[in-house]
Amino acid sequence: MALERTISIIKPDAVAKNVIGEIYSRFEKAGLKVVAAKMKHLSRKEAEGFYAVHRERPFFNALVEFMTSGPVMIQVLEGEGAVLKNRELMGATNPKDAAPGTIRADFAESIDANAVHGSDSLENAAIEIAYFFSTTELCPR
Ligand code: PPS
Repeated sequence: MALERTISIIKPDAVAKNVIGEIYSRFEKAGLKVVAAKMKHLSRKEAEGFYAVHRERPFFNALVEFMTSGPVMIQVLEGEGAVLKNRELMGATNPKDAAPGTIRADFAESIDANAVHGSDSLENAAIEIAYFFSTTELCPR
C-alpha cells in the first residue's frame, strides 16, 4: 500500500466535547501520523469554499452554519493507505449507521453534527490539503 496524505477535520461538536486527544489517539493507534495541524474558526467564506461541491444540496446552508459555529481542528494525516484508513476510523456519515468503535459512533450526535470530516479520495485529499495548508506548513515527506 502506498504512503498517502489526507485531510481530517475535527468538527465544532467534537471540539466542544473536548475529545481532540481521544480522536488523535485513534489516528496514532491506526498508524497515521499528524504531519500538520491547525485550530481555526472558519469564516463563512472559507466553509462555503471548502464545501463548494455540495452547494446545490439541500443541507448546504445547515452544513456551513454548523462548520462556522465554533473552532475546528484541521490536520494532515500521513500513512499507508491514509485516505481509506481515516474513512474507516470515522465510520458512516450518519452516526446511526456508523459501525461500533468508529469515531462517529462514539462521539457524533446526528448527521448534522457528525464529529469529523475526512477526504474521500487521494485526488480530493490533495485539493483539501492545499485549501488549508501552504507547502511550508507541511512536514517534508
Ligand atoms: S460524504 O461524507 O461526503 O460521503 O457524505 P455526503 O452524504 O456526500 O455528505 C457531504 C457532507 O455533507 C454532510 N451532510 C450533512 N450535513 C447536514 N445535514 C445533512 N442532512 C447532511 N447530510 C450530509 C456530511 O457530513 C458531509 O460532510 P463532511 O464534512 O464531508 O463529512
